[in-house]
Amino acid sequence: AIDVRDLHEHIGVIAYDPGLISTALCSSEISFIDGDKGELFYRGYPIEQLATHCDYLETCYLIKNGELPTATQYDEYVTTVKRHTMVHEQLMRLYQGFRRDAHPMAILVGVVGALSAYYQDSLDITNPEHRLLAATRLVAKMPTIVAMAYKYTVGQPFMYPRNELNYAENFLHMMFATPCGPYTPNPVLARALDRILILHADHEQNASTSTVRLSGSSGANPYACIASGIACLWGPAHGGANEACLNMLFDIQKQGGVEKIGEFIKQVKDKDSNTKLMGFGHRVYKNFDPRATLMRETCHEVLNELGLQNDPLFKLALELERIALEDDYFVSRKLYPNVDFYSGIVQKAIGIPVQLFTGIFAMARTIGWIAQWNEMIHDPEQKIGRPRQLYVGAQRRGVVPLKLRR
Ligand code: ACO
Repeated sequence: AIDVRDLHEHIGVIAYDPGLISTALCSSEISFIDGDKGELFYRGYPIEQLATHCDYLETCYLIKNGELPTATQYDEYVTTVKRHTMVHEQLMRLYQGFRRDAHPMAILVGVVGALSAYYQDSLDITNPEHRLLAATRLVAKMPTIVAMAYKYTVGQPFMYPRNELNYAENFLHMMFATPCGPYTPNPVLARALDRILILHADHEQNASTSTVRLSGSSGANPYACIASGIACLWGPAHGGANEACLNMLFDIQKQGGVEKIGEFIKQVKDKDSNTKLMGFGHRVYKNFDPRATLMRETCHEVLNELGLQNDPLFKLALELERIALEDDYFVSRKLYPNVDFYSGIVQKAIGIPVQLFTGIFAMARTIGWIAQWNEMIHDPEQKIGRPRQLYVGAQRRGVVPLKLRR
C-alpha cells in the first residue's frame, strides 16, 4: 500500500509555493507592476498619467476594453453606465434583513452575491451580451450599493442616484445628501475620491483578483465571482488595511498621541507583539508604491482644502510616516507607506466613516475584477483552478467503531 503522505511521489513534480509567490496564475494584458522600479501601468499607460489626465470612468473603459475611449466613446460609455445606476427596488428589502450594526463589508458580500438573484438576464457566461450587461451593471451599481450599506447602518433613507453628477460626485451625494437637504459636491473632494478609485482600479493578481479568477474558473456567474473578491478584499492584510490603519491611528491617539509614536514603533519591532505598522509594506513594491506617491499629494490637497493640517489625528499620521521612513527597521526591510496609508487619511478627511473604506476599495476594484474575469473567460488556456497540496497528515489507518473507541 502507498503511504498517503508519499502520494506526491506518485503524481509527478509539484511546486510547493505557499502564498503563490512564484506562481503565475495566468497571463494577462491588463495591469503590470514593476516592483523594483515602483511603477504601475494599466494597459501600458503609467498610473501617474492616468491619475493626472483621466477620470475613473475613462480608466474603467481602458481597463475593460484595452484602449482609452475617444470623446464619443467616452460619452456613450458614461451614458450607458448612468442608465444602470439604480438598483432593483426589491433589493432594498434585502438590506432590511441585516442588523443595523453589521459591518458594511458583510452587507456588500451578501448584496453583491444576491445580484445574481435579481438580474437573471445576465448570468449566461457563454453569452457576450450577458457578460457586457453584467460588467456595466456592476460598475454602475457599486456606488449605489456601497452608499446604501452606509445609509442603512446609520438609519437614514436611501438616496437615489443623481445622473447629472459625475461618478464620484454622485457617490458623495448618495452618501451625504438626505431628503431634508442636498449635498453640494466640493470639486477638490470629488476629484480626490475619483483619484482613489483610479489608483485602486486594478493591480495584477492580488489576493482578491486571484479569488475572482479562481471562482470564475468553475463557471460561476459574474456577480457571485465579484462577491468572492469582496470577501477576500475584506481581510486586514489586503483591502482592510486602510480601515486597520485608521484604527491604529485612533489607538495611538488614545494612548497619548504623537508622544506615543516611539513606544508604538518599539512594539511593532517586537515580533512577539504581532503588531504591524498598518499601511506600510507591500508584497510586490519593494522600493515605493507609486500609488502612495500620488495619494500623498492628494492627501495634502484635501487637508489644505478642509483646513485640517493641524487636526491632531492627521498630524499624528504624518509624524508616524516621518519617523518610520527614517527608522532602520523599516528602511532595511524596504517597508514604505502603501496607497492605503494615505487613502485612509483622505477618506477620513472627506467624512467617509472608517468602516466603509474597504467598501470604497471594492467599488474601485470592481472594474479590475470584472475585466480580469472576462479575460479569463476568453483565455484558451483557461482551466478550472485546482491547486495541489503536500499532504502532511496521518498515515492510512483503520476506523474503530464508535462504541469500541476510547
Ligand atoms: N509592519 C512591521 N513589519 C512589517 C510590516 C509592517 N507593516 N510588513 C512587513 N513587515 C516585516 C515582516 O515582519 C518581515 O520581517 P522579518 O524579515 O524580520 O521577518 C519583513 O517585514 C518582510 O515581511 P513579509 O511578511 O515577508 O512581507 P510580505 O510581502 O509577505 O507582506 C504585506 C506584505 C502583507 C502587505 C505586509 O507588509 C503587511 O502586512 N503590511 C501591513 C498591512 C497593509 O498595509 N496591507 C496593505 C497592502 S496594499 C493593498 O492591499 C492595497
